[in-house]
Order: sequence, then structure tokens, then C-alpha cells
Amino acid sequence: MKDFPIFDLIIIGAGAAGMMCALTAGQRGRKVLLLDHLDRAGAKILISGGGRCNFTNVEGDKAERYLSANPHFARSALGRYAPQDFIDLVEAHGIAWHEKTLGQLFCDGSAKQIVAMLEEECAKGGVETKLLTRITAISKPDENFRVETPGATHAASSLVIATGGPSIPKMGATGFAYDVARQFGLKVVEPRPALVPLTLGQDDRLFESLSGVSLDVVASLGKARFREAALFTHRGLSGPAILQISSYWRHGDTIALDLLPGTDARSILPEAKRVRPNAEPRTILREHFPDRLADVLADRLGLSGPLHEHRDATLAEAGARLNRWTLTPNGSEGFAKAEVTIGGVSTDGLDQRSLMARKVPGLHFIGEGVDVTGWLGGYNFQWAWASGRAAGEAA
Ligand code: FDA
Repeated sequence: MKDFPIFDLIIIGAGAAGMMCALTAGQRGRKVLLLDHLDRAGAKILISGGGRCNFTNVEGDKAERYLSANPHFARSALGRYAPQDFIDLVEAHGIAWHEKTLGQLFCDGSAKQIVAMLEEECAKGGVETKLLTRITAISKPDENFRVETPGATHAASSLVIATGGPSIPKMGATGFAYDVARQFGLKVVEPRPALVPLTLGQDDRLFESLSGVSLDVVASLGKARFREAALFTHRGLSGPAILQISSYWRHGDTIALDLLPGTDARSILPEAKRVRPNAEPRTILREHFPDRLADVLADRLGLSGPLHEHRDATLAEAGARLNRWTLTPNGSEGFAKAEVTIGGVSTDGLDQRSLMARKVPGLHFIGEGVDVTGWLGGYNFQWAWASGRAAGEAA
């Protein structure tokens, strides 16, 4: 005879996706248990968006803003729970918000409001939440899954893994979802840090002296292009343009930076030479870049002495490099600094409507643990909400 409670649904991971799944299933009348090993729910929500939570993006339903081995996989869930649906929920709770750049929506007040909202909605659905709960084993000996925790066994016909990815381990992030996937015979697409600062080796260390300087760039790699700020750091490059391109970057890849987006830089120095032949190239560059950067670029381009000492072709070539400065990062700052993890539980084995493992009825994977990774700017939360909603409606 069983001596443990049987739930309709157990969700492991009380983050963005797990809470959305819990409140959805709970409000459908399902008996839901939500477990997390931390002492509070929504830890990453609380620190997101500089404490104001960039909770979605007005373009968050565009599947092409998400990276996955199967670029069409996210379409179904994103199509059924749109950014407007989350905005409606936020407004129903009286949470004031504003749009920043590039369609990014933030709370006017604090990310705490989003966590409080999700907790309130979970309570409405009668969700039972247990924090500080370590999971020691999972099994499926019969029609119900068993989730073992120190001192207690819980059972349910459906199990949702919402434990996110391993980025920022010091916040309790783990690769738990991958272990469960492998245990049940699902594939895992190699997890890599994404939305992460890139590091530069000795050859590219021209920027070391520029730590703290930022400028508008177009960062590109293959077909991916992002026009946003880049920030020089003592280890390499950061800032939104670099974080975005980092999701596409693999070891050995070269990225290109257009340091003067929208300007054909080839004509800048030859034209200046006609008007001010005695001016130094760095003086002209200082009219386009922060002084420290202009000086480093002039050195790196080998442009010393007055403009009239340089041939027009040389000056034009130097300008062309400003529009396409190439760098080969030697690494990234890793999971410790990555905002998200790219890769994860392979979508091959999951049903796109319910996020359920096709070969293991009742087992769902949602959120960042799945091989779906959004751009910077509210997309990752939108995936968490949409995938959580999809599983919560199905389980
Ligand atoms: P999430 O990580 O939110 O939740 C997973 C939960 O599972 C956690 O509560 C964790 O404690 C728990 N867990 C993990 N392992 C466990 C285990 N073994 N046992 C029990 N519980 C376990 N995105 C965005 O769209 N806008 C933004 O503004 C930001 N800002 C941002 C800032 C920073 C600093 C970071 C690190 C990340 C962001 N993100 C973001 C990304 C966003 O936070 C992330 O994509 C979502 O939180 C993913 O939601 P999940 O619910 O999948 O995982």
C-alpha cells in the first residue's frame, strides 16, 4: 500500500517556467506540488533586468529570435502564449511597466512584483510549494512517477522538469534537467554558456587598456547581426551586442565589429586629409570615437604621423577595417557569468505542443533546460512563460 500523497502533477524547479506551469495546471483544477532546492521561488527573476525584470519582449512570439537545433520547435508554445498574454497578467495585478529599447518590457518598480504575482496566482490554483527540498531520486515504477526527497516520497502521474540550465551555479543553477533526460533515454544537445562576455587572447588585447569604454557597434557572425552597445572589459568584450553574438559563437569563430555603424568609414580619413593634411589620424578618429579608443585604433592601424604622409588608399583601407574589425575570442567567461545556457534537452524527443517526452508519457521538460534559447531582451522569460503554460495546460 502506498504511504505517500499522489498528486496529478509534480513540478521540479520553482523558477519562471515552473511557476507558470504550476499556476496554469492548478487553476485547471489539477493537484500540483512545486518543489525547489532553494529557500525562495523565482531567484533568477529577482535579479533579472537589473532588479526590474525584463519580463518579455513585444516581439517575443517570433520563433526566429530563439536558437535551437530545431528552429521551428518553439513556434507552437510561443504562438499560444504571446507577450500580450503575459502583459495582461501583469496589468491585472496592477504592476506598472515600461518599454525600453528594442521592445524590451520592464517593471517600473521591482522584479519582486513579478515573483509575488506568480506566487499569488499559484496560491489561487491551490499549488502546494515546498522549498529547500533536495531531490535524491526520480523513478517511474508504475503509472506514477516517484520523486524522492530526504524523508519523503511524492508521487504523481505527470512530472515536469523546470530546473533551468547550469548558468550561474552560485545561484543554485544545476544541470539536473539533463540528468533526468538521460535517465529516461532522451538526448541532450551540448550545453554551452550563452549571453556571456567573450574573452580575448594576447593578440587581441589591444582593448585591455580600454576597460569601461563602450560604443555602438554592429557585431556579426555568419548571418547573425546585432546593432547595440559593446563594452570593453579587462578580459575582452561585453555589452548587449557581444552578449547577443556570444550565443552564436563557437571556439575558433571570428566575430566582426562595425565600429562605425551606418557610416562608410573608408572616406573619413582621405576627406580629412584634403582639408587638414597636417592633422594626425588619431585626432580625426577622436572625432568619431572616445579618445582612449581612437588612440588605440590609430596605433593598431599603424597610422602615425600627419595625414599627408599616408596614401589615400592606405587611409581608405584603414577606414574599411573600422567598419569590419575582426576578432577571434579565445573563450567566454563561462557558466559563472552566462545569462543563459544554450543547448539542453533535445527537442527531438519532445512534443512541441505539450513539451512532453514522446517516449515517456507524463514527463515534460520546460524553460531553459530545453534546447531553446532566446535573444537578450525578455525572450528567455517569454519562452519560460510560454513553455510553462503549454505543459501546464497539457499535464
Ligand atoms: P530558472 O533558472 O528561472 O528556474 C529554475 C529553478 O529550478 C530554480 O528555482 C532553481 O533553484 C531550481 N533548481 C535547479 N536545480 C534544481 C535541483 N537539482 N533541485 C531542485 N530545484 C532545482 N531573461 C529575460 O528574459 N529577461 C531578463 O531580464 C533576464 N535577466 C537575467 C539576468 C541574469 C543575471 C540571469 C542569470 C538571467 C537572466 N535572464 C533574463 C534569463 C532568465 O532568468 C532565464 O532564462 C529564466 O529564469 C529561465 O527560467 P526557468 O524557469 O527555465 O529556470
